[in-house]
Amino acid sequence: MTQPDPRTTTVTVRVPAKVNVQLAVGGRRPDGFHDLANVFLAVGLYDSVSATPADSPRLTASGPDTARIPLDDTNLAARAARLLAERHGLEPRVHLHIAKDIPVAGGMAGGSADAAGALLACDTLWGTRTPHDELLALCAELGSDVPFSLAGGAALGRGRGERLTPLATGGVFHWVFAVADGGLSTPDVYRECDRLREAAGLGATQDSVPEPEPDEQLLGALRAGDSAALAATLRNDLQPAAVSLRPALADTLEAGTAAGALAAVVSGSGPTCAFLVKDPETATRTAQALLASGTCRTARPTTGPAPGATVV
Ligand code: C5P
Repeated sequence: MTQPDPRTTTVTVRVPAKVNVQLAVGGRRPDGFHDLANVFLAVGLYDSVSATPADSPRLTASGPDTARIPLDDTNLAARAARLLAERHGLEPRVHLHIAKDIPVAGGMAGGSADAAGALLACDTLWGTRTPHDELLALCAELGSDVPFSLAGGAALGRGRGERLTPLATGGVFHWVFAVADGGLSTPDVYRECDRLREAAGLGATQDSVPEPEPDEQLLGALRAGDSAALAATLRNDLQPAAVSLRPALADTLEAGTAAGALAAVVSGSGPTCAFLVKDPETATRTAQALLASGTCRTARPTTGPAPGATVV
């Protein structure tokens, strides 16, 4: 049998987006992060990250939002390749290509997905065989949401979201994602959350905000695959901050609810809005109504849970 030529072999990894079905945000910690009870669900919108041997590090991207992706050293995928190479005493001689379908700066962990994808693609290409636990630890160094992008499925994230416990799900949940024009910066949204808490006289630090806890009813709804029960418990503490920074999101949330969604919530730090619906037909109808409402750029029906980063 002919062996593949290692100089030209490309490894491609597919990585899912996420929605937070519960995002309970605690007080600001001394290091500036916030402790979370973060229930992640991976959903079927994917980026693909390809790694090909190259003489020097190179990063390219394709897809409708390419102009908004930084293609320099600051890109989380490039940082992931450097981090893995450093751990193994290698030079990051790789061409990474990101085929982007997850909204950029949309609150769906697109940048984190690319980092997780780059780690797995390079680990496979370089034959470094990093144990899964170590890959997860590298992910956590890169960002709070990166370990979940690697893991996929459903999971509870504690700490800043990086300490994961996998969660069982009892069925498929149907969603529509309304993608906004432009993104929101995650640090800006956390800062706005703190500002709103302070303005309400509640305080924003750990002494004044209760420790965030997972909602047992929500975990039960996930376990049972019960969309109506999940809809009743969806919660995102960053939503008031995202809507405060982007007031038009209130119209998007309203348009999806009016179209028959069981529940509407801002996805993570936004501005993508997530609509939980009862079946695929309602997903199609809700997506059409959202588009027709003129309150979003695109509307994408999909399902969750979705598998984590996978070599294809
Ligand atoms: O971990 P990541 O790089 O994704 O975080 C981006 C920013 O979001 C942080 O610098 C911080 O401002 C904010 N953040 C936070 N608490 C978290 C996660 C993120 O305040 N648990």
